[in-house]
Amino acid sequence: MDKYIIKGGNPLVGEVEITGAKNAALAILAASTMTNETVTIENMPDEADTNVLLGTMNDLGVFTHRTTRHTVRVNAAKARNFPIDNEDIKKIRASYYLIGALLGRFKRAKVVLPGGCAIGLRPIDQHMKGFAALGASCRIEHGFIIAEAKELHGAHIYLDVVSVGATINIMMAATLASGQTIIENAAKEPHVVDLANFLNSMGAHIKGAGTDVIRIRGVEKLHGTDYAIIPDQIEAGTFMMASAVTRGDITVTNIIPKHLESISAKLKEMGCELSEHDDAVRVICKDRIRSTHVKTLPYPGFPTDMQPQITVALGLSAGVSIVTESIFENRFKYIDELTSMGANIKVEGSTAIISGVERYTGAHIAAPDLRAGAALVLAGLVAEGFTTIDNIRFIERGYEDFYMKLRALGATIERVEDERSEQRFRLKYA
Ligand code: UD1
Repeated sequence: MDKYIIKGGNPLVGEVEITGAKNAALAILAASTMTNETVTIENMPDEADTNVLLGTMNDLGVFTHRTTRHTVRVNAAKARNFPIDNEDIKKIRASYYLIGALLGRFKRAKVVLPGGCAIGLRPIDQHMKGFAALGASCRIEHGFIIAEAKELHGAHIYLDVVSVGATINIMMAATLASGQTIIENAAKEPHVVDLANFLNSMGAHIKGAGTDVIRIRGVEKLHGTDYAIIPDQIEAGTFMMASAVTRGDITVTNIIPKHLESISAKLKEMGCELSEHDDAVRVICKDRIRSTHVKTLPYPGFPTDMQPQITVALGLSAGVSIVTESIFENRFKYIDELTSMGANIKVEGSTAIISGVERYTGAHIAAPDLRAGAALVLAGLVAEGFTTIDNIRFIERGYEDFYMKLRALGATIERVEDERSEQRFRLKYA
């Protein structure tokens, strides 16, 4: 099994370019099946999750072609509405975006229940409530979600919880419904706005994305477009946090600073120096970081997808920090691994109480999910000695060239496939 091996201790210094946002890309790819015309998408990340979705789209008869590493051309004129089920698509969360997209286009969708990171229960009741309000009958049968309608009509939908996935899914189906749909208590994440902009560039009428209330006037059909995906907020945040963890000096480029405000604010409280430019931010962290408290919240609050990374940083701070996870109920599973590296963290329900330690020590650990996996890599980068990280397939689902980008910043990290390569690395850096 492939793993990362890291020799910790180097401060990370230099510039890193951020790729397109994974979560925006997944929604936009699904939405690109809603027209017969050709769609060209730029800034498309080359990661496992996006590639799995592209493969599944091919299974449906959708033509997809990467004209460059980060540009994809999609034509769904010959798309067929087969049930969606394969071993890979079962593992990703965003498979459910095909329900909204196919329901909009074909008025029927049958998609295997979504997987994704095991960070909580992750129900889909709000998605189903939205589809039902639009006139679809919606049920779960034999492990599939089935949604079908004679026709879709606009509706007034109030989401009981702020859900990114439900907002995106309802927005897609409502785009091809008749009449007006209003989504209240909508998610405001940058990728919700990006999807709305993408759909509008295809002829949709969506207003208010980025606020609590989204208004969609249904259209009969969508047309082709050329569109560039926004930069990845979480990849950027992860590298910013890498600077704090390793006491480094990292300039993160190809970003939208506005999307990173909650992360930048915390880094400043932690004593890092930040300088912001139009599409870059430099994060310098010279001294031991200061403790602080963090609560994850829907955007513009501090993202739950950055919770493990900031916890790893605060684990090394001077003082006691409290991190409260308010979105997912099971997102502290990595703390055991971090404890084996010397962290002093106590978890009580949705709260982690972190007593900062002076150093982490290398250990053999495993990535429990995507973001926690990336966070544990950050811990390994600063730990004394060697850290081996198993289950890196989780990390590579959502970070393009992760270890290579870290290496370019000065990290001593290798992706190894067998014991011999691991031993060679250990001997080289002993
Ligand atoms: C998306 C992101 C994920 C991120 C999360 C929160 C993608 C592919 N994934 O996940 O990386 O961590 O947003 O920013 O974009 N909920 C319900 N019922 C529903 C739907 C959600 O109760 O029908 C609850 C969830 O259990 C959770 C909260 O709402 O507690 C937020 O979930 P949601 O925003 O839907 O997350 P995802 O779309 O799954």
